Amino acid sequence: MSETNSRYTNGSPAAQVPAGTPQAPAGGRSGPRHVAIIMDGNGRWATERGLPRVAGHRAGIEAIRRVVKACPELGIEILTLYAFSTENWKRPRDEVNALMNLLVEYCRKEVDELDRNGVRIQVLGRVAELPELQRREVERAVERTRHNRRLILNLALNYGSHAELVDAFKAILARVLAGELDPSQIDEQTIAAHLYTAGMPDPDLVIRTGGEYRLSNFLLWQAAYAELWVTPVYWPEFDRCHLEQALAEYARRERRFGGVPARGR
Ligand code: FPP
Repeated sequence: MSETNSRYTNGSPAAQVPAGTPQAPAGGRSGPRHVAIIMDGNGRWATERGLPRVAGHRAGIEAIRRVVKACPELGIEILTLYAFSTENWKRPRDEVNALMNLLVEYCRKEVDELDRNGVRIQVLGRVAELPELQRREVERAVERTRHNRRLILNLALNYGSHAELVDAFKAILARVLAGELDPSQIDEQTIAAHLYTAGMPDPDLVIRTGGEYRLSNFLLWQAAYAELWVTPVYWPEFDRCHLEQALAEYARRERRFGGVPARGR
């Protein structure tokens, strides 16, 4: 876990919930506490309209705005958005630059309203590897909103589950070598406590837009028991109605966490 992330997760409302083990929802709760979204389809949305791919990413910001507004109204406490993966650096340089510029624009333009609406921004990923300007803007937004409690907005930036696990294992090994941790004590909670999401409940629902059925290196550990919902809708078109559809489907699912159906007990 990076210093950045451990600092930002401390004291969050979600921090009271131990991470790392499959959890049944709190008594009677039918909606997800934590929703994670793979925002796919920006490029196709733009190409189908004869626009440059970057226009799709820009339109994607509008979708982010709609969803962030809707989440607390729908009882969601944590929203995690896959904004830039460790693999996205492989895209054409112009597209990477445009995404980085959008990130700065997002932090500068949206932070006032996010702050007013009680949204706390956190970052999951190798933030230290972002370009200096992006890192500074993101850290400023995180700092500015750190006291907010209405919604936690996790931006997964330069994020990949494999990298996250490597970082966690290195941090654990460092503690072992320092004599702070006995290897025999390492368990699933130890791993979870060294992920970027330390202290947060695992996602209950993972949504993927754009119609493809894969996790793309997103929250592989944390999503072990998440419900998955895929929609063909491209991210720039995603709105509150689609989120409500996902929540309605989630409410119909029976989460068993490896157990047996309630009626089979
Ligand atoms: C995937 O669509 C989307 C991304 C790689 C980036 C998502 C980014 C945004 C929604 C905007 C930037 C966010 C912030 C917070 C500044 P794709 O391009 O792979 O779409 P395709 O599959 O149709 O090509």
